[in-house]
Amino acid sequence: MSQPIKLIATAAMGLESIVKNEIKQLGYENIQTENGRVMFDADLAGIARSNLWLRTADRVKLLMDEFNAYSFEELFEQTKALPWEEWISKEGFIHVVGKSHKSKLYSVPDCQSIVKKAIVSRLQEAYSLTSRLEETGARYKVEVAILKDKVTLSLDTSGSGLHKRGYRIGQGEAPLKETLAAALIQLTNWTPDDPFVDPFTGSGTIPIEAALIGQNIAPGFNREFQAEEWDSIPSTVWEQALEEAEDLANYDQPLDITGSDISHQSIEIAKHNAMEAGLADLINWKQMQAKDFMPKSEKGYLIGNPPYGERLGEKETVEQIYQDLGHIMSSYPKWSVYIMTSYQDFEKQYGQKATKKRKLFNGFIQTNYYQYFGKK
Ligand SMILES: C[S@@+](CC[C@H](N)C(=O)[O-])C[C@H]1O[C@@H](n2cnc3c(N)ncnc32)[C@H](O)[C@@H]1O
Repeated sequence: MSQPIKLIATAAMGLESIVKNEIKQLGYENIQTENGRVMFDADLAGIARSNLWLRTADRVKLLMDEFNAYSFEELFEQTKALPWEEWISKEGFIHVVGKSHKSKLYSVPDCQSIVKKAIVSRLQEAYSLTSRLEETGARYKVEVAILKDKVTLSLDTSGSGLHKRGYRIGQGEAPLKETLAAALIQLTNWTPDDPFVDPFTGSGTIPIEAALIGQNIAPGFNREFQAEEWDSIPSTVWEQALEEAEDLANYDQPLDITGSDISHQSIEIAKHNAMEAGLADLINWKQMQAKDFMPKSEKGYLIGNPPYGERLGEKETVEQIYQDLGHIMSSYPKWSVYIMTSYQDFEKQYGQKATKKRKLFNGFIQTNYYQYFGKK
């Protein structure tokens, strides 16, 4: 299978451009960005490399084809016409998921079952089988997504979502998705030589992601991916991608990263998570209230995801936290401060207008990422 393939990196709303940059850095071309997904040209190695390296994408799917279909017959025939046997082994377990929006073919269960029938029929012919498929082998999750009558058929290569790096064994209150934490860092100009502080660290997601970025450690290094089970991708492809990741990691890069939180329990959880990520001694953890934070250097980066004050009775407490933080940081103009919150009047409480604001979704909560650039 030497022909080029097309991959789709799915992304949370608002993160597409960051995912695109990551794909570009991996060396892939012909990158097209749409709502919630970024498509790009790759090769077999690209499946392994993008799963291993993409820090801000949700998952990587292999695009089988896109076509218009207005009837079940058209859906069946066009699905059957695709070379599924190039990817799915004779024993493969095929699981079809689906969605449909503003389309003639609106019954998702029917579309799923037609796609499954078409793939099975194709494979029976390709493998000259007279009986049904055994489906006892590797898993293949096929997605049939229909939007305005345009059908996209893809195979999920990731398995569990890419935010599952494998290090978060414990979590505090309202933990950030690892992919979003990585995006928050990539939206700053932080370099591994700069001091980095997260004063609302919870389970430690932001400092852990910063350390992985700082030492150029592939975020997927400690986990497995669905497509690793597929016979269609030789194991050497995965081995080479892992070797490359090992070569590119810079374990000697010194880091000055601190995570603190008012909660003792959170700090314990964060420490465990960092240990699981293999970063045991790299991050400084400290139980501390944000109002006691005092920068130790003239310049640095503060990145935080504080409480939003959405719960009953919490509003005044968070206003005080924002005021205290604004007051502290006003004495350190060379520090860059980045705060994600859904609290509407953040700038007023913080006491300063942000240099830049960016809308981001934390799950279903719409937030703003307030960015205060430090003076050079
Ligand atoms: C939204 S959570 C942060 C979640 C974190 N980013 C994660 O991925 O787990 C907010 C955190 O702020 C902490 N917190 C609340 N009030 C605080 C204060 N006054 N000073 C420092 N931390 C505080 C909470 O204990 C909680 O862990």
